[in-house]
Amino acid sequence: MQKLEELYTGKAKSVFRTDDPDRFIMVFRNDTSAFDGKKVAQLERKGMVNNRFNAFIMEKLAAAGIPTHFERVLSDNEALVKKLEMLPLECVVRNYAAGSICRRYGLEEGMVLNPPTFELFLKSDALGDPMCNEYHVHSFGWATEEQIARMKELTFRINDVLQPLFLAGNMLLVDYKLEFGLFNGELMLGDEFSPDGCRIWDKDTREKLDKDRFRQDLGNVVEAYEEVGRRLGVSFA
Ligand code: TMP
Ligand code: ASP
Repeated sequence: MQKLEELYTGKAKSVFRTDDPDRFIMVFRNDTSAFDGKKVAQLERKGMVNNRFNAFIMEKLAAAGIPTHFERVLSDNEALVKKLEMLPLECVVRNYAAGSICRRYGLEEGMVLNPPTFELFLKSDALGDPMCNEYHVHSFGWATEEQIARMKELTFRINDVLQPLFLAGNMLLVDYKLEFGLFNGELMLGDEFSPDGCRIWDKDTREKLDKDRFRQDLGNVVEAYEEVGRRLGVSFA
């Protein structure tokens, strides 16, 4: 597998073309950003930790029959993935209230959401990732009704796999964001699953073990990510 030129660089990852037209290399950088790029920092080891964490989760999901773009880890901070045609959407599932949903609806942080709630956001830093509904997505041509239904189905199946996994490590999977894309017309999970894109709390103390540590200047960000990984059984270099 030959790594060719960089195609795209995001806030925390970069994507490179390879000599296989259907495969990309995803590079997990130490760059960390929050609030639509308004707060940035370099966190040592984060690229490696998120690459290993993501691989572990993607393999668990694949084992449960969820189609994902992940193929294999190539190095400490690189993974080989299928080239997807990404939908410009972020699917958020919330098992407990935290973050923007508390601000929007005046909910108390930690409120149990039963059933878990599902939200769609347009992926656009320039517009501040506005929330949108299924009619917007369909009417504006961002995805078909079938694709929306499939994203919801996969998102909730992923919740059924991940919630017990985190619980077994005495952690609550509070919320998370997923992105989907198409490979030969098949919808599959793309992007990453790491503590950069979800909220994880210790079940007993409710200590935050995710990117809120960075957003809220709580310190020990990467150490918390590693602690989550350790409890799940992820092996880091
Ligand atoms: P929110 O509370 O800011 O709406 O975020 C909900 C969850 O989704 C939280 O775990 C962070 C994640 N998320 C991202 O990783 N990137 C995003 O662009 C958005 C909107 C949410
Ligand atoms: N999309 C938001 C951002 O890029 C999510 C976050 O705060 O992590 O900043």
